[in-house]
Amino acid sequence: MEKILDFQDFNLYSVDDHRTWATLCNRHRQLHAGKLAKEYLSGLDKLQLDHESIVDIAEVSNKLKSISGWTLVPVTGLLSTKDFFLLLAKKTYPITVYIRKPSEMDFSEQPDIFHDVFGHLPLLTDEKFTKFLTAYSIIALKYINNEKAIDILGRLYWFTYEMGLIREDGECKPYGGAVITSVEEILNVSNEKVPKHSFDVDHIFKSLFDSFKIQLEYFVIDSFDDLFSSLATLEQKLIGNLLIPDDDFSLRNYSVNIHLGRGFNDVIGFLNGIQFQFPNALSFVAGQPDETFFEVDDHISKYNLFVNYLAEKTGQDKKTVINGIGQYNKTKGIINEIISDYLKNDENITIKPENTIITAGAQEAFSIIVSAICNREDDVILMENPSYIGVSSFAKIFDYKIGGISCDEEGINLEELKNKVIAVNNSGKRVKLVYVIPDYQNPSGSCMPIGNRLKLLELAYKYNFLIIEDSVYNSFTYAQKKIRR
Ligand SMILES: [Fe+2]
Repeated sequence: MEKILDFQDFNLYSVDDHRTWATLCNRHRQLHAGKLAKEYLSGLDKLQLDHESIVDIAEVSNKLKSISGWTLVPVTGLLSTKDFFLLLAKKTYPITVYIRKPSEMDFSEQPDIFHDVFGHLPLLTDEKFTKFLTAYSIIALKYINNEKAIDILGRLYWFTYEMGLIREDGECKPYGGAVITSVEEILNVSNEKVPKHSFDVDHIFKSLFDSFKIQLEYFVIDSFDDLFSSLATLEQKLIGNLLIPDDDFSLRNYSVNIHLGRGFNDVIGFLNGIQFQFPNALSFVAGQPDETFFEVDDHISKYNLFVNYLAEKTGQDKKTVINGIGQYNKTKGIINEIISDYLKNDENITIKPENTIITAGAQEAFSIIVSAICNREDDVILMENPSYIGVSSFAKIFDYKIGGISCDEEGINLEELKNKVIAVNNSGKRVKLVYVIPDYQNPSGSCMPIGNRLKLLELAYKYNFLIIEDSVYNSFTYAQKKIRR
């Protein structure tokens, strides 16, 4: 069970434990001569660690703080990934209080105080390395709910802070804590047959490892500048890797609704009618705008602008254009190109005008999507709970099956969603649509971090469902807070 402790209880250490520490330190000292990275050795020199008995974590923490501003916190066991990165982002490093048994002198399966102190602390005195570590942790926290992202980012941590090598005087010398505190790994590094690749984040992101076995490959930096400069494109490369499907799933023969073309009643008017009937009521449902911000006259004056735009674009005279606007027109809409340009410029979404449909609000869009895609008998629609009632009301009235998934400040609960999808699919029915409001959700106001959005896409791909993303409020936020896709 993982736990952050307030203090390190020295009564828990036996004489044998201190002897184990001294033995490990003595063996470690013999490695120094020319075998380890000079940045590591310089840090070790600054820390002046006790080699005879187990160090006092609070004392070392004070020393480290005066050198680099980092502090230490004693822990038992393994911290959760989130807690670990939260600590690193706050320039705090967790040190395990446990020390290995004498029988584990060469290799300890659990991290122990010797590994944490001698393996990792010296580099926490190095400014370039700590800048990298902090920035890396902040990126990891953005993706903390996305297991695949954390798995990929964990490879970078592993092949640098644990197993990293640096080129020095024509040799590959370890700076990674797991190599430095393992006699077997040190020997393995000197084996010419074991591949030592040049540092390459994309290569690392695709490289698996087994932390319980001797490593099959290493990655070598030329200097700590390599790590720091990799941050500029780290997130971009991460997203690139997240978008690569793990497996090839065959899809996607959606059949259309067997009820399509039968009777169809109006639900939209019902919702709007409630609003007009009780104008003083505060609606928590439909996101009713504040009328003091209305500029309806200004909107109407844009009519001439639109006519001129069409005349210039089509080469027609104004009268023909105006007659065209008044006449029956394309059912998909007549401003699709403008919408397409808007999506490209403002949302970074590329979509052809002919692939957009202009609707009279979200209700019509939902009714078209749900009725065109879902079958009442077999298909299930999942959505955040609570959420805007647009989809759920339509689905209920027209007898489509729906289910709610809880949400918190980071939007829909992805674990619950995944479990629900699996349960529904195992029951013989099928989750076909998932409705989310990822930007300023109605009514909670929550926003999904990008890691969660990518994870949702991954789930959609894996479990073969479609997503309705209702982004109505993203366009109305302050420019500096705008969420880019
Ligand atoms: Fe470690």
